[in-house]
Amino acid sequence: MSLNLASTIKLSDGRAIPQLGLGVYLSKGKEGEVAMQHAFKNGYRHLDGAQWYRNEAEMGRAFHASGLKREDVWITTKVTNHGYEKTLRSVDESLAVAKLDYYDLFLLHSPNPGRELRLEAWRGLIDAQKAGKVKSIGVSNYGVHHIQELLEKYPNNLPVVNQIEYSPFFQRNEIVRECLKHDIKIQSYSPLGKGAFVDLPELKQIADVHKKTPSQLLIRYVLQKGHIVIPKSVTPSRIEENADVYDFELSGQEIAKLDALETGSGVTWDPTKAP
Ligand SMILES: NC(=O)c1ccc[n+]([C@@H]2O[C@H](COP(=O)([O-])OP(=O)(O)OC[C@H]3O[C@@H](n4cnc5c(N)ncnc54)[C@H](OP(=O)(O)O)[C@@H]3O)[C@@H](O)[C@H]2O)c1
Repeated sequence: MSLNLASTIKLSDGRAIPQLGLGVYLSKGKEGEVAMQHAFKNGYRHLDGAQWYRNEAEMGRAFHASGLKREDVWITTKVTNHGYEKTLRSVDESLAVAKLDYYDLFLLHSPNPGRELRLEAWRGLIDAQKAGKVKSIGVSNYGVHHIQELLEKYPNNLPVVNQIEYSPFFQRNEIVRECLKHDIKIQSYSPLGKGAFVDLPELKQIADVHKKTPSQLLIRYVLQKGHIVIPKSVTPSRIEENADVYDFELSGQEIAKLDALETGSGVTWDPTKAP
């Protein structure tokens, strides 16, 4: 499998998202901005932010300082406020805060506020996309029943991605199967278990064979599964380490060993079962 840092995944709307991105939850202020700039200098072309992280301004400043062309960078954010008007208003706010003309991807951060509000929020994102304020639209933390709701109500405007917690320890098979059936790509968040997995001996054993770290192993695992992955770090050496995952390949047997680590639970919130 010939993957590299420029590898992209083709979305159902025809656009190509860089398969590896930098997660920026808790990357704030000068530290966050410098980390994002460091990522751009080291070949990352994709940032994953959210209104809730309160660092869209940092994402915008890091991009503007990078000297990169807008079309060569992928910037994602997520809407917290649900409902139609609130969503439209918050898209404008997110653009203003980051000083951007458009976002590449806007996600509904979670299905939490209930059916009516999330469907109205989805209509808001469809209209923001029509207005050119956001190029692609998707969801996050959607369970199978939330995806089915969109299939019923907006069969011609399905999300291009569902961003969920995903790692060998929490593989979300049902959700993944349902999404892929409808060409909704999976974005893996917390691929390192928020740092909890980076020293586990069962990972180190396999990583050592390849002279790699457990973090690199976990990221490579998601890449070989064909999903998008957004590890977070504000540490320059780790930002580089997490992108240095293209000079080795996991065998089928190693992937199977990692698959066997499934625990059925994750390390953070799980709104996928919300009514
Ligand atoms: N949609 C959602 O609901 C949702 C939820 C959670 C996360 N996310 C997105 O997914 C991104 C990633 O998930 P996450 O931030 O929860 O966790 P993560 O990427 O699994 O782990 C990040 C943690 O691991 C540490 N780390 C990173 N690289 C490392 C390495 N090579 N060696 C050792 N430690 C390392 C980081 O420390 P330092 O930063 O100190 O280096 C940080 O503490 C988020 O930033 C966010 O963009 C989305």
